Amino acid sequence: MSTQIDVSTPSRSYQVHVGRHVLGQVGQLVRQAAGGSVAAVVSDSNVAPLYAQQVLDSLQAAGYRTVLITFPAGEQSKRLGTLGDILEQLAQAELSRDDVVVALGGGVTGDMAGLAAAMYLRGCQVAQVPTSLLAMVDSSVGGKTAVDLEAGKNLAGAFFQPSVVVADVDCLGTLSHDLLTDSCGEVIKHGVIADADLFREVSEHPLNAPGYAPQDMERVVARNVQIKRDVVDADERERGLRQTLNFGHTIGHAIEAASDFQLGHGTCVACGMCCIARASVRKGWCAPEVAQAIEQAVAAYGLPTQTSLDHDTIFHYATHDKKRHGTHVNVVVPLRIGQVEVRRIDLGQLRELIELGC
Ligand code: GLY
Repeated sequence: MSTQIDVSTPSRSYQVHVGRHVLGQVGQLVRQAAGGSVAAVVSDSNVAPLYAQQVLDSLQAAGYRTVLITFPAGEQSKRLGTLGDILEQLAQAELSRDDVVVALGGGVTGDMAGLAAAMYLRGCQVAQVPTSLLAMVDSSVGGKTAVDLEAGKNLAGAFFQPSVVVADVDCLGTLSHDLLTDSCGEVIKHGVIADADLFREVSEHPLNAPGYAPQDMERVVARNVQIKRDVVDADERERGLRQTLNFGHTIGHAIEAASDFQLGHGTCVACGMCCIARASVRKGWCAPEVAQAIEQAVAAYGLPTQTSLDHDTIFHYATHDKKRHGTHVNVVVPLRIGQVEVRRIDLGQLRELIELGC
């Protein structure tokens, strides 16, 4: 049994299947959604030993000729060189444009395999099989694909929607506590931007607590996917509503970049949410209770609510982000729990928010 969520963007409609023990159904679900005769599973050196065989067996049972392409785990692999290696291996395996790349892993794998699929023969199909919480609730849905450049993270990429997403929450059992906790920053974010009930639930019952029930995990992941779906259905290319997913990211990205990406993305987003919420209170844009609730939720996960970085450093990195628009940035501010708005501000106003909130 799994929960199915329909995604319908201008470029493609597809289903996200969230459930337990669904890795064995990957072959059948990819067959129904994508067709083709060859399936290239792309995975990293951590995830492949755990799950690749089950996925390959499932794809073979569904009639696919399969090939497994692996790369060393870690953000440092998310580079043009690794992307080139994957593309060469797709060509050696003689995939055609009708065939399918299966991205098995976390955000790095999904982003890079998705971009390889977008480029190979000018676009074959990709199935996303996320195995980390971050990938399940965020990066596997919505079609953002990318690699990093020397100049920064995710600077070369494409919007390329998958043909199907299969999220088996049992895979989260092999995630380290730290990685699971890091991903929870994005779960809290979804509650703040769109769903006060989800926010209350995940604040009162942290997903990273020992013994968290798998059936609750399935329901919470599915709700997160629905929130992301609602956003990308309305705004696939981040012209408007999709920017709300960047709540906590202006300052969060700066903290992440200043740490030379040693701190996790979700950890930095969690801290960034607290900073912008405190600044928003000081500006009179939201009530003090809103910032307090966000800080309490973040603290309940053991995630940071404060940064020790100085304002100059935060401002420097925040203004060297790809989301800057010339002399302006769009920041997402909370109005109440479950509702945010995008504000276009100049760099002087950004400096003020950093001083007020950090
Ligand atoms: N992770 C934010 C987005 O997909 O737009």
